[in-house]
Amino acid sequence: MIPVGLLSLSLAVVPSSAALLYVSSYAGTITTLSLTIPSGNASSATLEAISTSDGCAPSPAWLTLDYPNSRLYCTDEGLTTPNGTVSSFQTSDDGSLVQLDKIDVISGPVSAVIYGEGGDGLALAQYGGSSFTTLSIADAAALTVLQSETYKLSQPGSNPSRQEASHPHEALLDPTGDYILVPDLGADLVRIFKVEEGGLEWTSVDPLVTVPGTGPRHAAFLATDEKTFMYLVGELANTITGYEVVYNSNSTLSFVELFAINTHGEGETVPKGTTAAEIELSPDEKFLVVSSRGENSFTIPNFDPTNSTEIISDAIISFSLDHATGGLTHVQTAPSGGRIPRQFSINKAGDMVAIGLQSDGRVVVVKRDVQTGLLGNFLASADIAGEVTAVIFDE
Ligand SMILES: *[C@@H]1O[C@H](CO)[C@@H](O)[C@H](O)[C@H]1NC(C)=O
Ligand SMILES: *[C@@H]1O[C@H](CO)[C@@H](O)[C@H](O)[C@H]1NC(C)=O
Ligand SMILES: *[C@@H]1O[C@H](CO)[C@@H](O)[C@H](O)[C@H]1NC(C)=O
Ligand SMILES: *[C@@H]1O[C@H](CO)[C@@H](O)[C@H](O)[C@H]1NC(C)=O
Repeated sequence: MIPVGLLSLSLAVVPSSAALLYVSSYAGTITTLSLTIPSGNASSATLEAISTSDGCAPSPAWLTLDYPNSRLYCTDEGLTTPNGTVSSFQTSDDGSLVQLDKIDVISGPVSAVIYGEGGDGLALAQYGGSSFTTLSIADAAALTVLQSETYKLSQPGSNPSRQEASHPHEALLDPTGDYILVPDLGADLVRIFKVEEGGLEWTSVDPLVTVPGTGPRHAAFLATDEKTFMYLVGELANTITGYEVVYNSNSTLSFVELFAINTHGEGETVPKGTTAAEIELSPDEKFLVVSSRGENSFTIPNFDPTNSTEIISDAIISFSLDHATGGLTHVQTAPSGGRIPRQFSINKAGDMVAIGLQSDGRVVVVKRDVQTGLLGNFLASADIAGEVTAVIFDE
């Protein structure tokens, strides 16, 4: 028999788990949050701000982590200034950020991705400035602009109020890393750039043309042994379009459209006033997760346990992926934890989702079942000043 005293001692020394997250806000800040989950009692998890930087002010819009090199890049959309900026920071185990550099770029960078041999490049999608720009980050303390293109539409798109100009909304890599793709919400295109072998220079190649009024915003890839699939979120049409990607011998990509469904799944309807936002594959590549804004489709208990007023929530929708066909099957439509889930991140283990709620100035962390893909309880939440634009795990 184990003496009671020893048993409680051995339980007490089981370490709790802790993780850091970075949050960007239009208040001008990057906040480092510490998530602590006491062992054996997830219901007492805490999410607390431990550090704040205003180095990416005035309009932090997107965070890109280079974890192996302890570098964080932040794009400032420049909503109140003539230019946007890109900042680099040194990260640290204590959550503090030490700024290394900050440079002006064309206005409106809302997304960035590390690319190129050795991860020496950073590619930007510039919504407000209708541009695509690449930087060298080979020395994070000496950021330099490499190449840039600005786009003009010959006429507005079929949604003239949102498609009055080109609006590049994300920069992402294909699974080979040889191509940078940039969904352009205003132009109904996914712009494609072939990166030179072993270098950082690029040339633009034939784009993917979407159905007018789609408003391409973000995309995600699935590479199986046989095929490559791409899933594109249309913010304006609230659609997910699935494509098979074909690599042509002339260094271009072709896309075979497999299906187009709305973000709530085949045959479902999307609430009026909705704008789809983020799309991400689970780390095991078995599920696809999408966020949908402006729905006001759930009421959930207040995160403040002393406040009995329920709060309004938008939706996070999960689908399982068929690796043979690239097809999607709806798994769950769950509350996002508040209004305007502009962006979310799934941790590497796949058992948590951090969601940034722009209108509510809140970050929530939701439990996720890796096997079923179902989102479960909210583990913790934190209030953040201003409009939350992005939240990422430090891993
Ligand atoms: C877990 O934590 C919650 C909140 O702090 C507390 O109310 C509850 O009693 C704890 N449960 C156990 C089994 O320790
Ligand atoms: C900053 O903005 C001005 C005015 O729009 C523009 O002329 C200039 O090229 C921008 N600078 C950079 C580095 O993009
Ligand atoms: C590249 O090859 C594809 C497939 O054969 C073709 O459709 C496309 O027009 C070619 N593009 C260029 C720029 O030659
Ligand atoms: C309670 O929550 C509601 C909804 O979020 C909020 O509007 C209200 O200000 C809160 N009340 C207090 C006393 O914090």
